[in-house]
Amino acid sequence: MTIRSTMLIDRNFTVSAVDPRIYGSFIEHLGRAVYGGIYDPGHPEADAAGFRRDVLKAIRALNVPIIRYPGGNFVSGYNWEDGVGPKAERKRLLELAWWTTETNEVGTNEFADWARLAGTEVMMAVNLGTRGMDAARNLVEYCNHPSGSYWSDLRIAHGYQEPHKFKTWCLGNEMDGPWQIGAKTAVEYGRLANETAKVMRWVDPSIELVACGSSSRGMPTFADWEATVLDLSYDQVDYLSLHAYYNNNAGDTANFLASSLDLDRFIDSVTAVCDFAQAKKRSNKKIMLSLDEWNVWKTVGTSRANERWQIAPPEFEDNYNHEDALAVGCYLITILKHADRVKMACLAQLINTIAPVMTDTGGALWLQTTYYPFLHASNFGRGTVLLSNVNAPKYDSKDFTDVPYLESVAVFNEEEGQLTIFAVNRHLEESMTLNIDVRSFSGLQLIEHIVMESDDLKAANTKEDPNRVLPRTGGQTKVDQGVVTSQLSRASWNVIRLQAVKG
Ligand code: AHR
Repeated sequence: MTIRSTMLIDRNFTVSAVDPRIYGSFIEHLGRAVYGGIYDPGHPEADAAGFRRDVLKAIRALNVPIIRYPGGNFVSGYNWEDGVGPKAERKRLLELAWWTTETNEVGTNEFADWARLAGTEVMMAVNLGTRGMDAARNLVEYCNHPSGSYWSDLRIAHGYQEPHKFKTWCLGNEMDGPWQIGAKTAVEYGRLANETAKVMRWVDPSIELVACGSSSRGMPTFADWEATVLDLSYDQVDYLSLHAYYNNNAGDTANFLASSLDLDRFIDSVTAVCDFAQAKKRSNKKIMLSLDEWNVWKTVGTSRANERWQIAPPEFEDNYNHEDALAVGCYLITILKHADRVKMACLAQLINTIAPVMTDTGGALWLQTTYYPFLHASNFGRGTVLLSNVNAPKYDSKDFTDVPYLESVAVFNEEEGQLTIFAVNRHLEESMTLNIDVRSFSGLQLIEHIVMESDDLKAANTKEDPNRVLPRTGGQTKVDQGVVTSQLSRASWNVIRLQAVKG
């Protein structure tokens, strides 16, 4: 049997321009993300600085515009001064977020170098756990001030004549979480975020600042936390963060694939609190959202390192399967549908630790299933999100009602004259015929219909079998008199790329 869905789009009815930074990601000093991931000096592919060229190539292909660094929970115990200057003099320190030993071989300057090679910007986080506004303003001075002051001249002495000009800064990480080093109440954090943002801006007025929202929608203080923090810091911050992780550890795929509805509600709720704060302040400024950690995370909460104080032990090296890639596709579509408020988002994380790119230290590199929907969205999902009117049959799952079998969004890139439809068929048994009314576009022609499907939802790519689940072109789509008709196979991720007449 085949189910039927329809979509109606119009090139003049738009949600918002896509901020490319929604295709951001995250690299933390956690597990083998840095050591054994981007940095592996003993590897045959390593450059003179110790960065793996094959890793850079895989990441460059993803076209990631911004990467959050150095944490995560790690940042709340991190003294940035320990990670700069001559490597031989850097301290080995006990790292209390993950109970490891941090060698400090990679720090701010090395990461800035790596980011340049990766073609990405750095979203820098400051420590508001064990440190505060003094360390934060000094770090801005070190990174962004041209010269002529103690910290900027120290950067120059360290070999970096030009300032890094980091634009986006996170004011701490998950400060509401009891697991966080130096966790705070909303009032404590809101005041600190406000004062820290103020002095950081005084050092460099061009920066943008992200305040911590709740660690998840499930936190007991969710929504009150956001309201209080914004009440205390509204004029000094530009973005509020959200973190969202999901998994199918309960073994209920229909429910898991519906989890993007939770993300949808989360985004709507945080938007509502931001607008409440705006109303209360009678402000003209709107706070935008930074979904700066999101992903499927199966091993969440399972460990700090089993044995304490190891150097870069493997941590949270989730192996992603086909259904995880579908879920990631649904989250990407959800983020795009909120392009008017979500201006930054970071797939957490990028390499080895809950990541699409995997390596063996000193050895192979392979790409997880989740690499592909991100690759497609980041490369083809740029332009303007169009409003779409979708009609699809629905189902109920354990936690969600009225879940449409079709999750979809349309993005029009006017410059290239390209229209892209991203679509997931959530139905686990039935294929879907999708009719898309595109009559406002003239002369549309199919470029390609990319499909990711699998006879086994649990099939995954591994080092031994890295090509088990791959996207292919050749999905069934035809364009006829203003209607695009596509066949979406059961449980599939689809990218329907169309060329329009420009102008
Ligand atoms: O991404 C892994 C961890 O998840 C981060 O360190 C923390 O911010 C979140 O809880």
